[in-house]
Amino acid sequence: MYNSALQKQANALVKSYKIKDASFQERLTANLDDIHSHFRAIYGDSPLFAELINSIFQAYEDRSPALKKRDEVKAQQEENWFLSQDLVGMSLYVDRFAGKIKDLASKIPYLKKLGVNFLHLMPLFKSPEGESDGGYAVQDFREVEEKLGTIEDLRTFQQELQQKDMYLMIDIVLNHTSHHHEWAKLAKAGIKEYQDYFYMYDDRRIPDAMEESMPEIFPESSPGSFTYDEKLDKWVMSVFHHYQWDLNYTNPKVFVEMLSNVFYYANLGVDVVRIDAPAFIWKQVGTTCQNLPEAHQLLQLINMCVEVATPGMAILGEAIVAPAQIMEYFGTGRFATHECDFAYNATQMAAQWDALATGDIRVMRLAQNELLRKPKGTTWLTYTRCHDDIGLGYDDWMIEQSGYSPYDHRSYIKNYYSGGVESPATGALFAINPKTQDARLSGSLASLCGLEKAIASKNVSAIQTSINKITLMQAQSLFVGGVPMLFYGDEAAYTNDYSYLEDTGKSYDNRWMHRPIIDWKKNAAVDKKDTVENKVFTNLQKLIQLRKSLKVLADLKNIHWLEVHNNSVIGFERYLNGEKVYFLFNFSLQAQDLTYYVLGAAGDRPTSMIDLWSGKTISIGMDHEHLTFAPYQFYVLK
Ligand code: GLC
Repeated sequence: MYNSALQKQANALVKSYKIKDASFQERLTANLDDIHSHFRAIYGDSPLFAELINSIFQAYEDRSPALKKRDEVKAQQEENWFLSQDLVGMSLYVDRFAGKIKDLASKIPYLKKLGVNFLHLMPLFKSPEGESDGGYAVQDFREVEEKLGTIEDLRTFQQELQQKDMYLMIDIVLNHTSHHHEWAKLAKAGIKEYQDYFYMYDDRRIPDAMEESMPEIFPESSPGSFTYDEKLDKWVMSVFHHYQWDLNYTNPKVFVEMLSNVFYYANLGVDVVRIDAPAFIWKQVGTTCQNLPEAHQLLQLINMCVEVATPGMAILGEAIVAPAQIMEYFGTGRFATHECDFAYNATQMAAQWDALATGDIRVMRLAQNELLRKPKGTTWLTYTRCHDDIGLGYDDWMIEQSGYSPYDHRSYIKNYYSGGVESPATGALFAINPKTQDARLSGSLASLCGLEKAIASKNVSAIQTSINKITLMQAQSLFVGGVPMLFYGDEAAYTNDYSYLEDTGKSYDNRWMHRPIIDWKKNAAVDKKDTVENKVFTNLQKLIQLRKSLKVLADLKNIHWLEVHNNSVIGFERYLNGEKVYFLFNFSLQAQDLTYYVLGAAGDRPTSMIDLWSGKTISIGMDHEHLTFAPYQFYVLK
């Protein structure tokens, strides 16, 4: 809607900032009224609205000509730039991968060789040693952690990436700060204005009421959702670790300050900002304090402000929640596609681990009906492993409809990966909740796929099986739709690293077992024929090349799941402009077969197809004849 009073104010600002760019003015006009009404819905007639508008103008003003040019190039693409099959990402810790930001440039050839052109640098900003949560407890949103380098190094590296046609993602930790952040320090010093940046209570009445319905995130290492601060003699909300204080978004100052940090990252040249833990940013007694409507409204507000000032930066929402709830982060109703551009496909990720343990794909297949609701124009961050644990976050009904009992089924999966039943996997339970017996899982891709045990027992065939599993999992993530995000170390088959147990700042958190410290001598083996590293790396490299070569893999709502009538094999068709490619994956330890009917009725399908993965030509038989699969084999049929 056009709001003339608002538009007048905005026009005055356009004049005073001497803005000539018509596309900025168009974006402003298109979004202004919604920005205003979203802000108002949450903060009423707060005078801080003027500051918010000012910060949009300031962010635009601060944006370099080079970035404005890049925005334009992105905007001119026929489809959103991030939907392309050409993008392949990797998440990495700068220190554990390379050392310092400055050292990253020398690793670009390695990444390019693999085919990676999009980097997620794990949290880079100042964070107290020992109380850091891998950088997710931020002490200063604008100062780079000293051991990693400086903000100038980051700018230089971004330019280097840009020259090499690569993309950059970093995190904004929106939900909380370290209790050593300036705001927390001022709050601790008794300054009321800053105490209002957090949730603080003099007694346990509200904390008790809230905790009744709030799930615990780290029940072992940080039970409860509030921490008693002796100095303050108050209970402070700390949903994650006790040293991560939740920001109070009922306070408009918090929102405006954090928005300006988002803009700061945008103007560093970040292509995608990963909003950490967005599900948690609004709290209300009597709820789980996750996924609340106000949280969505605030995210939409961020989206619209970014769209006006720094439009080339896309937004990834890291909402690791139930399947239907994840979908809401793309925006709903009139705001569909106006919230997060990307969401983590945590449902698919968990379903992959489910299928690998059981050899049964039914949960994964049932989950797709929900996932297919993703609006066109948005995309998934598709992954098999990341720096976090694996939560079995699919719905109970998906398990029930697959013929299992949810409790027993989840117990089996957890036991399978953590040593509770005999299996090839090596992993561990993470965040066991003594009250509910809930737990999530830690472990590296390779170890969870059996490589750690296979190497220890020098079992050549088990080593090959685990390589096949690793490749199967990665293949599906690269082809199922969205931007695949690899996790560093997985490309070179790193198994679990237990050295974190010797570091008191990490030993309470077993997610560190799958966050390796890269040993470049080991990585050199990726070039040495017949090593495990080489097999895993070259398979992945080939998968990436295949992905980039197939236009059908652009994420354009062009996936159709097949009914294959075999509970161990899952398949989908990807199509575009008359081109069709079939992807079929056997998740079981047994050989399987499918009737050729799956590929369309006779007469409808070609007499032969090429498997783009193996390079072999497959002659397609009669409806009742069979395409056979070796254990963990997959086909890419064209
Ligand atoms: C996100 C991060 C995780 C962190 C948490 C708290 O879920 O991925 O690593 O512990 O947020 O910031």
